[in-house]
Amino acid sequence: MKPRIFSGMQPTGELHIGNYLGALRNWAKIQYDYDPIFCIVDQHAITAPHDPQLLPERCEQVAALYLAAGLDPDHSAVFVQSQVSEHVELAWIFTCTVPFGWLSRMTQFKAKTLQAGGNQDSIGTGLFLYPVLMAADILLYQARFVPVGDDQSQHMELTRNIAQRFNNHYGDTFVVPEAKMPVVGARIMGLDDPTKKMSKSAASPTHSISLLDPPGRVRKVLGRAVTDSQAGVNWEAPGNGVANLLTIFQAFSEWTDERMEAHFAGMRYGDLKKQVAEMVSSKLEPIQLRYAELMDCRDYLRGVLRSSAERVKPVAEETVRAAKQRTGLYFL
Ligand code: TYM
Repeated sequence: MKPRIFSGMQPTGELHIGNYLGALRNWAKIQYDYDPIFCIVDQHAITAPHDPQLLPERCEQVAALYLAAGLDPDHSAVFVQSQVSEHVELAWIFTCTVPFGWLSRMTQFKAKTLQAGGNQDSIGTGLFLYPVLMAADILLYQARFVPVGDDQSQHMELTRNIAQRFNNHYGDTFVVPEAKMPVVGARIMGLDDPTKKMSKSAASPTHSISLLDPPGRVRKVLGRAVTDSQAGVNWEAPGNGVANLLTIFQAFSEWTDERMEAHFAGMRYGDLKKQVAEMVSSKLEPIQLRYAELMDCRDYLRGVLRSSAERVKPVAEETVRAAKQRTGLYFL
């Protein structure tokens, strides 16, 4: 049996090239070496204000992007989190296992609290418990590896700690998973501010490139990307902005370091930006074409989500049965 991998994305905002290079592209690449399960985590998405009318549509858009980016639904399970109720059932058991202090120390929660001006009345409890649900997602399927971007490191560490804590308290129940990150592209930075990671929630229109952006917009956003005041690409010591552009190009092109250096060392920033834009658009184009086709085949998409959920449900049921038994919850 091939080792299982599990990963997921929130159906919030438009997926950007960071999501693609840090996670999605890697999923498509490695899927056949594993027993893969990919989820659209809508129950995570409701931890933030959202439009209930829009969320189901967003889930289908993300499903279409997963497939358009190369996930093979005959091999990889692709489903929506809320289709399998065991995620929240296991999350509750974990909630009762995790010390409050562990969650209070999560940097993402602290950052979001800060963004809300520290006003606890405007922050949902779901945001606090978010990492517990994420641990449940992964441990529910006894996943051995979790392909994610670098920003998920702390969540992955917590997931491992939860698995170990549960196993120590109640006896071996969960596989302790490991994060799996791409060598290039695990952390794509904002184009308007290369000290912050590219994120779906940033307000600035020049912050990110969406997977569905047409070439004109890609060119425009990259044309405005922050660089620095050096004359051209300093290969040995590029500034943050230039390093980010080079990373984006290298991740998409898969060129070696040597080829990158020979091509880009000393290049003027205007030319660098143009070449990155061309590379990005040429790689996004087939994804966009396939996405448009898939969005016109809703029955097919829904069929994939339904059959995948049916396929993974027995695994989830078996894990929850074991977790209930171990914790002493009543079941027949
Ligand atoms: P989310 O939806 O924020 O991001 C989805 C994936 O994209 C990666 N990513 C990035 N990679 C490189 N550079 C970036 N700038 C960048 N931004 C995002 C993320 O690392 C992630 O792999 N908590 C998760 C969703 C989740 C999950 C899970 C993931 C819920 N349960 C179980 C794995 C396993 C999240 O918010 O990802």
